[in-house]
Amino acid sequence: MRTLTVPATSANLGPGFDCLGLALSCYNTITFEFIESGLHIELEPCDLSHIPADSRNLIYRVFCGVLKTYGITPPGVHFAQVNEIPSMRGLGSSAASVVGGVVMADTYMGFKMTKQEMLDICASQEGHPDNILPALLGGLTVGCMDNGHVRYLRMDAPKSLRLAVFIPPFSLSTRKARSVLPKTVPLEDAVFNLTRAALLTAALATGELSALPFAVNDRLHQPYRKSLVPGYDDIARLADASGALATYLSGAGPTLISFFDKSPSLESLTDKLESLHKGWQVRLLCVDSQGYRLE
Ligand code: HSE
Repeated sequence: MRTLTVPATSANLGPGFDCLGLALSCYNTITFEFIESGLHIELEPCDLSHIPADSRNLIYRVFCGVLKTYGITPPGVHFAQVNEIPSMRGLGSSAASVVGGVVMADTYMGFKMTKQEMLDICASQEGHPDNILPALLGGLTVGCMDNGHVRYLRMDAPKSLRLAVFIPPFSLSTRKARSVLPKTVPLEDAVFNLTRAALLTAALATGELSALPFAVNDRLHQPYRKSLVPGYDDIARLADASGALATYLSGAGPTLISFFDKSPSLESLTDKLESLHKGWQVRLLCVDSQGYRLE
């Protein structure tokens, strides 16, 4: 039996659309073994009823797809999936499954894939590398696709950085969240985002967290996606009043994340959230610096 742990991720971080990513201290765990034949999947917690426990399972599909690319017939496999990362909430749950399938396939092949091959295969499944990179490498990642290859740099995030993660009771598919984006944007908005994304990256790389309140602003996706997230402004105001440095839409949403330079009170945030919007939950997380782990 092998145990694979994959962190949640947060993409975009406001202005870094399809480019910036952060690994979070919340994990999906897959325990697996290869068997002679057949497929046996266990899902925990039990409310993972929306995740198929048969050959439609994303981890399994990726596992088989990768092996077939290398001309290898997939073996039987038995795995148990324990998910802490909520699905379709903008926290990288599908990236975690893709990484899971690829690492399982690499394990079966005797660890012959290079890091670059892993990244390229994972990103081709996801379409963009911003959730894949932090799930594989941990920390803060900056990446792009270039001729089918992921080009990237990874940095450690400031140790003092704390994140309040506001998770709504409803899901949002990336497809829907991308469908509301315009096909073209004014040059002024593109420049606005370039400048903020560069500033945000520099702020996180140097630990100058005081730049975050203005560095996190975005004009490329959040203004359009906001309408899909009822409660967005209320939650951002709540975080502001609780001492957050900045708040942004995690990935394609609908989760909102606030940056803090020290841990806020979970109890106080939970109380305020409860009286504002029923069904939302808040978790306090920090940055995962390692990425996936295989034991
Ligand atoms: N960068 C992507 C988006 C993340 O915002 O649509 C979603 O996977």
